[in-house]
Amino acid sequence: MITITSDYALASERLHRGKLIAIPTETVYGLAADASNPDAVRQIYQVKQRPSNHPLIVHIASADQLSDWADDIPDIAYTLAEAFWPGPLTFILPKAPSINTAVTGGQNTIGLRCPNHPLTLQLLTTFKGGLAAPSANRFGHISPTKPEHVQSEFTQAEVDLILDGGQSIIGIESTILDLTATPPRILREGAITADMIRNICNISVINHKTATSPQVSGSLDKHYAPDTPTMLVTTEKLQDIINDNQNKRIAILAHSEIHEQHLQKSKGAGYWFQMPKEAKGYAHQLYDTLRQADASDAELIIIEAIPNTPEWDAIRDRVTKSSH
Ligand code: TXA
Ligand code: MG
Repeated sequence: MITITSDYALASERLHRGKLIAIPTETVYGLAADASNPDAVRQIYQVKQRPSNHPLIVHIASADQLSDWADDIPDIAYTLAEAFWPGPLTFILPKAPSINTAVTGGQNTIGLRCPNHPLTLQLLTTFKGGLAAPSANRFGHISPTKPEHVQSEFTQAEVDLILDGGQSIIGIESTILDLTATPPRILREGAITADMIRNICNISVINHKTATSPQVSGSLDKHYAPDTPTMLVTTEKLQDIINDNQNKRIAILAHSEIHEQHLQKSKGAGYWFQMPKEAKGYAHQLYDTLRQADASDAELIIIEAIPNTPEWDAIRDRVTKSSH
């Protein structure tokens, strides 16, 4: 099993030696390498089994480092960083000419974010460079929000150590904002919403649903997915679907006040995960709960459909892809 530690100086030393380590962030755990070391960056792609044209996010200690990695940085990048960094907002910017395209998946743009986690900020300050870090899961699988999740994805030969920062507070990945587009557009929804961005800088922001061909792996239809077949079912249809699947053991993630009797009445009595009724609490628990359901002997995971209001947008995006 991979060593779990909170020794960020040791973590920094391993990174300087070209090793991969897992780092805690407020969104999900990242699989980190020295972003300026192309061999270390290539190992991320190998270990994750990620296609080499899917770019990585580079994590930096503050907005002061933006210009080490990006070029032609618009003023709104600094305004938004002032408002939301450290935090769950990633910028896509033109990459600086010196930056190796291993980290950008061959593109001329680069993803940059300053994560809001005390231990990882200390690590970044000690390390002094940028850390390329996708979510610390195998490609297409559920993102990790706890050290144990990372431990279950990789071996010690693949990942040198896991920096233990407890459970990720937010629980779903950062908002990705493409600042190379006019107007800027959101490529992946997250805790920072289009409205929050508009409130800060009074610009128009387009959502990816109306944009064409975003270069974001999270934009593949199937992503964030358990190994167990997973369905998204409206509250009204829940009982019918349970009845239809009586021959299977079922795990259910429900957020509304319907009760467990639904499940206990069915022959396949399985697992009932009562999820928080508000979006923040739901996001915090989503991936951990999906992993528990996946690790159980359930043969089918049913997720109760997500409310249609804006605060649930990012969560709806994730569960839709988990269940594709
Ligand atoms: O919250 C997060 O963003 C987490 C933590 C670890 O920081 N990271 C994360 O990384 O979710 P990953 O690799 O699983 O997702 C990053 C997304 C990918 O879908 C990638 O395609 C997109 O960011 N991305 C990175 N650089 C890009 C670029 N230059 N242009 C377009 N998309 C980019
Ligand atoms: Mg990911």
